[in-house]
Amino acid sequence: MNWRVPLSDLILSTEDKTAVMNVLNSGWLTMGDVTQHFEEAFAEMVGVKHAIAVSNATVGLHLAVLALQIGHGDEVILPSLSFVATANAVLYTGATPVFADVKNELDFGISIDSIERQITNKTKAITLMHYGGNLCAMSEIMALARDKGLSVIEDAAHAPGASVDGVNAGAWSDIACFSFFSNKNLVTGEGGMITTDRDDLAEKIRLMRSHGMTTVTLDRYKGHAYSYDVVDLGFNYRIDDVRSALGLAQLEKLEANNRRRREISDRYRLDLSEVPMLSIPYADHPGISAAHIFPVLLDVGVDREAFMDGLKAEGIQTSIHYPPIHQFTYYRERFGETHLPVTEEIGGREVTLPLFPTMTEEQVSLVITCVKSAVETGMMRLEI
Ligand SMILES: Cc1ncc(COP(=O)(O)O)c(C=O)c1O
Repeated sequence: MNWRVPLSDLILSTEDKTAVMNVLNSGWLTMGDVTQHFEEAFAEMVGVKHAIAVSNATVGLHLAVLALQIGHGDEVILPSLSFVATANAVLYTGATPVFADVKNELDFGISIDSIERQITNKTKAITLMHYGGNLCAMSEIMALARDKGLSVIEDAAHAPGASVDGVNAGAWSDIACFSFFSNKNLVTGEGGMITTDRDDLAEKIRLMRSHGMTTVTLDRYKGHAYSYDVVDLGFNYRIDDVRSALGLAQLEKLEANNRRRREISDRYRLDLSEVPMLSIPYADHPGISAAHIFPVLLDVGVDREAFMDGLKAEGIQTSIHYPPIHQFTYYRERFGETHLPVTEEIGGREVTLPLFPTMTEEQVSLVITCVKSAVETGMMRLEI
C-alpha cells in the first residue's frame, strides 16, 4: 500500500547516518565502546545506575524475569492488553503469566484492584506496561508490590522519556525494558535496553546477555583478558555497535520528538473531541507522556472494520493496540478461558491513528477530516 498517512514513519537524519557510517568505517561492528556510550547516556536520561543494551525488548523482558530468579511454579501478574512479548517472556522461563484487567476506558493501564485479586502464594512479580507512553499508577503499584514482597518489571517499550511524579519510566521498578523497534520513539531497527538501579540484577543480566561468559570479545581485544569462564546458562542477546550508534544519535532527538508527538496528540484530542460515537483516553493523565501511539475508542454502535476500511480508502493506515493476549489461540488452548471485561471491551473497540514526529499539519488535518466521515461509515455498516 502506498499510504498517504502511514501509522508511523521514520526519516533518518544526516547525523543518524553519519553515526552509523562512523562505526562501519571503524572496523569494530559488534558490541563495544559505542554500545557502552549508548548505555551510559541512556542510564543518565532515565536516571538509573545501569542500562544494558540488548538485541530487542523481548529478550530484555526474558532476562528481566530470569534475573529475578522467577521460573517453574512461579506466577507473574501482567496485563493482557499488551504486545504478546510481555507474556511470552514469562513463559520462556517456565513461570506462569496471570492476566490482570486494565483500569477503565479512559486509562488502559493495569488495574490495582485486579492485581490484588490475582495475587496468590505463587506470585513473584508484577509486570506492567506503560500503554501509549502514559505511565501506570506507579506510586500505588510500587507500594502494593513492596507491601506484598513482589518484584516489579516495567515494560517500557512505549515510554522512553515519559515520567510521572518527576520519575522517569524505567526508574520506578526493579527492572525495566525498552524497545527500539522501527516504529518506536527511539529507533535502532531491532534493539532494546534494560534499566535497573540494582547492582546484583545488572551483573546477572550482563552475564546472561552474553552466554554466561565472564569476559566479552572487547575485553580480550583490549588486552584485559585471554580467556573466560562460563558460569551460567546464558544467551546471545547482545546488540551491536552499528545499532548502538543509531541509538545514540536518536537519543539526542528523543525529547524534541516526544514533544512533537505530544503536540500532534493535543491537536487530535482537541479536533476530535466533538466527534460523536468516539472517545479518547488519557485526557487528564498525570505526568509527561511519551505519546507513542494515539488510541481512540469507538462506541458499540460503530463497526470497527468499516471505520478502518473508511480510513484505508483515504490512504490512512490504522492499527489495533491490542488484540488481548488471553484471547489468542495459543493462550486459550494452554490456559483455558479467562474473562477480563475492560480489556475485552477495549480490545474490541480500540483503533490507533497515525502518529509520528515528522507528520505534517496537512497529514494531521487529513486524518481528522477522514475520521469524522469514517465514523459515519462505521455507523451505517452496523445499521444495514
Ligand atoms: C509493549 C511492548 N512490549 C514488548 C515489545 C517487544 O519489543 P521488541 O520488538 O523490541 O522485542 C513491544 C514491541 O512492539 C511492545 O510494544
